[in-house]
Amino acid sequence: MATLALVLFTFLALVSTQAFASDPSPLQDFCVADPMSEVLVNGLVCKNPKDIKPEDFFFPGLDKAGDTSKNPGSNVTLVNVEKIAGLNTLGISLARIDFAPNGGLNPPHTHPRATEILTVMEGTLYVGFVTSAPDFKLFSKVLNKGDVFVFPKGLIHFQFNIGAVPAVAFAGLSSQNPGLVTVAKAVFGSNPPISDDVLAKAFQLDKKTVDWLQAQFSN
Ligand SMILES: *[C@@H]1O[C@H](CO)[C@@H](O)[C@H](O)[C@H]1NC(C)=O
Repeated sequence: MATLALVLFTFLALVSTQAFASDPSPLQDFCVADPMSEVLVNGLVCKNPKDIKPEDFFFPGLDKAGDTSKNPGSNVTLVNVEKIAGLNTLGISLARIDFAPNGGLNPPHTHPRATEILTVMEGTLYVGFVTSAPDFKLFSKVLNKGDVFVFPKGLIHFQFNIGAVPAVAFAGLSSQNPGLVTVAKAVFGSNPPISDDVLAKAFQLDKKTVDWLQAQFSN
């Protein structure tokens, strides 16, 4: 009986792991996305393998810095399945992140479908992530050139340039389409806006402050 319970528990544990938002494993060498297909599946439909070319696995120009002149002073160049159709079903993507000197910020955000591993190529970043309830513990670190840090899937994280020179980092993400939820934008800049009664109560602010924040984050 105990053995049966253990088998059942193990089975349920495996099944529930599958139900979390990880990219599924590929069932063939590759499944290059066909952007023209009108069929909707989980991911993207495969192009005919006969029509696949090296370019389907290629993206140029990640040596170029993004423009960081706009607030909050960072620029993410994400190479996901939209940029490389060959990433479809492979569960991985790559980002270049540029930061303006003296405070360029990649603001607190989460990737619903990806863990991120980041390395600093130039500059000095203060980075961190916060664990989920009930602890909400901050794990933070100052990273210099060559340092690597991991942001676990789904957790809110940020990167902040505390140096006087531009910073650049590269990050691998464990999804062909990691997704992005920027906290301030999602909460104060949703379309249509969340009722200011809700936000005033949730953030313990007066409604005038909420309205001001909503004006900053709407576009
Ligand atoms: C990021 O940089 C690119 C290339 O300079 C630019 O076209 C784009 O507008 C920038 N994005 C933001 C959000 O500033």
